[in-house]
Amino acid sequence: MFSNLRNKFLILNMAITSLVMLIAFSVVYLTTYNNIQTENQRKLDTAVTFPLAGSITSTLPDLSVGGDVPIIQGTGVVISASTLTPASSPSFLIQTDAEGNILHVNSFIDMPKQVYQEAADLAWQNKGRSTINLEDRLWLYSITPIQGNLTKAEYNGQSFVTVMNDYYRIAFLDITDTQRTLRDLLITFLAVGVATLVAIYWISRFFANRSIKPIAEVWEKQRQFIADASHELKTPLAIIMANYDALLANQDETIKSQKEWFDYMKAGTDRMAKLINDLLSLAKMENTDIVAAKSSFNISQVIGEVISSMEAMAKEKGLSLGQSMDPNLNLYSDLETVKKVFAILLDNAIKYSDPNSTINVVLKASKHRVLCSVQNWGKPIAKEDLPKIFDRFYRSDSSRTEESGGYGLGLAIAKMSIERLDGNISVESKPDGLTTFTFALGDVI
Ligand SMILES: Nc1ncnc2c1ncn2[C@@H]1O[C@H](COP(=O)(O)OP(=O)(O)O)[C@@H](O)[C@H]1O
Ligand SMILES: [Mg+2]
Repeated sequence: MFSNLRNKFLILNMAITSLVMLIAFSVVYLTTYNNIQTENQRKLDTAVTFPLAGSITSTLPDLSVGGDVPIIQGTGVVISASTLTPASSPSFLIQTDAEGNILHVNSFIDMPKQVYQEAADLAWQNKGRSTINLEDRLWLYSITPIQGNLTKAEYNGQSFVTVMNDYYRIAFLDITDTQRTLRDLLITFLAVGVATLVAIYWISRFFANRSIKPIAEVWEKQRQFIADASHELKTPLAIIMANYDALLANQDETIKSQKEWFDYMKAGTDRMAKLINDLLSLAKMENTDIVAAKSSFNISQVIGEVISSMEAMAKEKGLSLGQSMDPNLNLYSDLETVKKVFAILLDNAIKYSDPNSTINVVLKASKHRVLCSVQNWGKPIAKEDLPKIFDRFYRSDSSRTEESGGYGLGLAIAKMSIERLDGNISVESKPDGLTTFTFALGDVI
């Protein structure tokens, strides 16, 4: 159940983290992509406007002369490497006629003529703005149609009419590096994203496990508690039902003659009542909203009263009660709780003492605290049992304690009660059989 909960938490955590990362990386990538594309476009647009410097001057002397004869036509290819300096963007410009034949080229690098022809052909095959692969590099290109015109020119004292047919300017921009930058950025994001997700998965898993552990422990304790309580209730219920059947089987008998069965039923209900009361006490103490009602009282007197009320029980077992108590110790605490805890300890001491031994009660002040100990002689509590002795339903020797009517809740109630009053309770059991329970409470006045 808890691993399911943890997995749900992990999935949610990973989903949110992935989404946030995806959004963040996408924003960065798209912004960079956009900037690079805009910049490429700007460079390409600039390239389109480069003058084809070599065109007129280098071709003019070869031109035929004549009134309206077009002077500049796609006759020769002029490659001028001078205008586009290396400092400008890696681009070249091709001027073609309407059929795609190269008229002029203006390039930043020296490339063989056929390469330019290939570039123009490729670009021409797919008009509009796009990319082509050329010489192992990626080129962005644009084809701009330019309208032809008529211009008058003077040459060697003669006037000419220069007729410029419609032509096209194809600008190419080398975008291999910028595309590589974008691709590298994408790879980096992917690598960082995957690594981050893996790291976050393990970190979240670690913390999820850590935070779920105490919850799982409490849950398991609670489950165990319910199982134990139900189990304990089963025995007196079985007794009551069995005796009820016995009564039914002898319906004509008098109540007096059936007293034995009634007594067993009464014992069963008493046991149930005690168990339910103990369970209620525990449940009440777990409710942290209820604050202890503190008052100042004479603890020496209170302990004395409890001893008196239980003296008869001790006498029955032939036990003698020794007392070593500071008289008139005043304590500011919860009277009923102190009474209850001491009664639990003394009850245990009586129950688990060897017959005809001595029980000692010690009450003294130490600094601002009151120390109250109950000592008895009996079967020592095994060392491995000591840490568990205050657990609910824990009985170190269940065969012996069951006959004494205990459920193993007394010490659990005592510990919780004392801790609610900011005190503490401890146990010491020597191999020779001397067992001492001590509780300490603050605020001696
Ligand atoms: N004074 C004692 N001497 C020896 N064993 C004790 C003493 N007090 C408690 N124990 C052991 O601790 C167990 C838990 O005590 P407690 O919580 O009071 O339950 P129970 O209802 O059995 O008395 C007992 O079953 C017993 O085995
Ligand atoms: Mg007890």
